[in-house]
Amino acid sequence: MLKSPLVDLSSYFEPFSKRGIELFIKREELLHPHISGNKYRKLYFNLKAAEELGYDTLLTFGGAFSNHIVATAYAAKERGFKSIGVIRGEELAFGELNPSLQFASSCGMQLHFVSREVYREKHTKEFFEQLQSKFGSFYMLPEGGTNELAVKGCEEILNKEDESFSHIALAVGTGGTISGVIRSALNHQYVLGFPALKGDFLKKDICTFTSKSNWELITDYHFGGYAKITRELVDFMNDFYQKTGILIDPIYTSKMIYGIIDLAQKDYFKPSDRVLMIHTGGLQAIDGMNTYLRTKYSFEIQS
Ligand SMILES: Cc1ncc(COP(=O)(O)O)c(C=O)c1O
Repeated sequence: MLKSPLVDLSSYFEPFSKRGIELFIKREELLHPHISGNKYRKLYFNLKAAEELGYDTLLTFGGAFSNHIVATAYAAKERGFKSIGVIRGEELAFGELNPSLQFASSCGMQLHFVSREVYREKHTKEFFEQLQSKFGSFYMLPEGGTNELAVKGCEEILNKEDESFSHIALAVGTGGTISGVIRSALNHQYVLGFPALKGDFLKKDICTFTSKSNWELITDYHFGGYAKITRELVDFMNDFYQKTGILIDPIYTSKMIYGIIDLAQKDYFKPSDRVLMIHTGGLQAIDGMNTYLRTKYSFEIQS
């Protein structure tokens, strides 16, 4: 399995440098230009399974800016699958597609727009049967790509060189990525998950994939909810980029890093701690977010 580079950020952020706490980032976003970070990990064993089971089509679900839709569309093209994206929001079928959906479509993904009400029913047998009668046979990947094989892929994010970290921090959406990381973390390591959305259903979902207890969800850094953004967060992202030269996405990793630095400032960590943040990718969302920011505000994310 691929290994991504570690970068030492301890000297860039005073709450760490002043207290002698080490801060590293694992650059999973560099794994692939279009199947970045956790998407690479989540798709790896699923694509193998789809090939072995003889499927020629992948079908999956997502919102208008979904990193998972973009990654699946590209991976399908690269591996010779046809792909179908069931997209939340039937209004999106009219007018110009946003940059994420344009990209997915340019990879050959057939976009099937459904209303929010229909999308909510995506787990039902009836909806599945409707999709089958419309599109024929397909290998189905759930929303966000999270299933057992995806979690197995995410177990490979951590490797031997990460064993001396005391804390591992990452953003959480559906809970698949953190479940894999929890499974492969050692007993002395504590995993901190930063949900990018409001709600407390995630804990239960994570517990379906792991019975380990060396983890916690820190729910104070969603900035108002999924894909919500503030001037403070944009300023933070731009400052982070200027200091480190590392781009971060506005929906997941930026909120986690903001949270980690804030926790250090509040003395959450001890001086002997070594903190590893995982960059889970998703940089394609910057363009879409900037398109939105330009229509409403006078600031944007530098890239
Ligand atoms: C860039 C990025 N980081 C983190 C996550 C969260 O991953 P998960 O849904 O497995 O919790 C996602 C969503 O899948 C994502 O796109």
